[in-house]
Amino acid sequence: MNMKELYDAAKSVLPNSYAKYSHFKVAAALKLKNGEVITGINVENASFGLTNCAERTALFTAYTKGYRKEDITEILITTEQDDFISPCGACRQVMSELMPSDALVHLVNNKGESKTVKNADLLPFAFTEDDL
Ligand code: THU
Repeated sequence: MNMKELYDAAKSVLPNSYAKYSHFKVAAALKLKNGEVITGINVENASFGLTNCAERTALFTAYTKGYRKEDITEILITTEQDDFISPCGACRQVMSELMPSDALVHLVNNKGESKTVKNADLLPFAFTEDDL
């Protein structure tokens, strides 16, 4: 895995984050098996609940392009913060369905330091299609 490639991609779109209300900019970069990198940012709204997180923006873009979970190998998420971001519950649920359980999730702070976890470890006992 070339984390620098993903980090550079996420950093390049971080300024585009539309974080007008929280001023908490987030960017994500997804790596696909074919080598393609797909980025996403958080997009806020005056109706706060309509905010879309960076992880979900990247994943929904990948799915829009026709990719599916088996095409995705990892995701990197970064912010301007000293601390590592902890993906929100909604994103964990979406990542649990839209990415492989063994996909790597790299959390990177503003110094470029990283912590890597496995997708499945972010949401034990997830709600899945089997529960429907
Ligand atoms: N945010 C993300 O983009 N990803 C996360 O995993 C956590 C939160 C965004 C949503 C909102 O725009 C801002 O960060 C503050 O909550």
